Amino acid sequence: MHAPGLCLRDGRYRLLAEIGRGGSGVVWRALDIEARTERALKALPLAAGGAEGAALEVEARVRVQHPGALAIHGHFEEAGAAWLVLDLAVLSLQALVESGDLDSAGQPVAEPLPLPVALHVAGALCDVLASAHRAGVVHRDVKPANILLMSGGEVRLTDFGIARMWADSRTQTSSGAILGSLPWMAPEQRRDPRAVRPATDIYALAVTLAWMLLGYSPAELYVPAAVEELRGAGIPEPVVQLLVRAGSWAPDERMDATRFGEALTALADELALPDGSDADAWAAPGPRSALVARLEARQRRASGDPERSDSSDAGWRDVVVTLLDAWSSWEAIRGEATDLALPPVAPAALTRPPPQERGAISSRELLVAGGLLGAGGLLGAGAIVASAAAVWIALSSS
Ligand SMILES: Nc1ncnc2c1ncn2[C@@H]1O[C@H](COP(=O)(O)OP(=O)(O)O)[C@@H](O)[C@H]1O
Ligand SMILES: [Mg+2]
Repeated sequence: MHAPGLCLRDGRYRLLAEIGRGGSGVVWRALDIEARTERALKALPLAAGGAEGAALEVEARVRVQHPGALAIHGHFEEAGAAWLVLDLAVLSLQALVESGDLDSAGQPVAEPLPLPVALHVAGALCDVLASAHRAGVVHRDVKPANILLMSGGEVRLTDFGIARMWADSRTQTSSGAILGSLPWMAPEQRRDPRAVRPATDIYALAVTLAWMLLGYSPAELYVPAAVEELRGAGIPEPVVQLLVRAGSWAPDERMDATRFGEALTALADELALPDGSDADAWAAPGPRSALVARLEARQRRASGDPERSDSSDAGWRDVVVTLLDAWSSWEAIRGEATDLALPPVAPAALTRPPPQERGAISSRELLVAGGLLGAGGLLGAGAIVASAAAVWIALSSS
């Protein structure tokens, strides 16, 4: 219905390429000519109640005054749709974990995230959910496709399209229609949409954390089989216990978002300790290099899009750097025992200086330099020269 090149609002916005689709709309990467920046434009068809959907999403977002909720810059109706003007993200959490391919059984090919990164992402979501719940907003659709990573690596919760606001007759006594997405839905949400409450989002967040660690969503978290599944995957026991608690069948037995966040921080500290043997397997070099390789693969895939601007590549590097920052602080507590054992997956990105030189160049600068080299390889010899210059600048500015 809409196509690249479509101009909206008297030419202020120009659609560049479709970047996502959900249950309610199509999301476009677009140029905001007035603000001289790229945005995401979400189109909700008017014929399918888009005007009401957009109004609800804006209202819920306005109530949640937290930077962890994706910014909405405006909304308007045109060309048969209600449009939301959003900050542009680099990719969704779903796209970070799933490659986009299917295996022989038709299941998405996915790679779990390293524990420190998963705890970091879940902790960021606790902050925004605590704020939403204080404001009387239940998101109702917390899941990997609705969690975005920004060009600075920040985590953002989006899609408040089916959020429910307390004391709001429109959403509180809505029809008996079940809204949400299996298998992220808490048992009370599956039974009765009116039973939804803040604890419903906590359940979905627990499933999301389990999904980040497994690469697929587990059986319902409150059944004994789920515990075995989590343990079987080698997830450290304190994390299993936290998931089981946050995924309790009874909403009252789940902790609130603030407590969940505190528990995640405590776990990250506890498991990072050198003698936290339970977590040793997770701190091994394999998953780290796999994460870098995965981000590089996603970047290569995205670079195939001819409409992408150069600025998007910078966003990819920052996502790598920021996600690995969560890991670096973990390693800083653990000591640097794992550093020297890193395999040569992305040599320029991951090779650290010998111990006596540490501190001269930060791992961040090395990663940026490595990212530039990787991008240069893709773009050809001319770009390699430019990359080398950038590496020289990165090193000489340290
Ligand atoms: N601001 C954004 N930047 C980049 N991609 C986005 C953005 N918003 C949404 N997307 C992508 O589009 C998909 C659908 O967007 P979403 O807001 O969840 O729509 P729906 O309400 O239809 O589920 C997301 O899963 C994500 O992959
Ligand atoms: Mg969505």
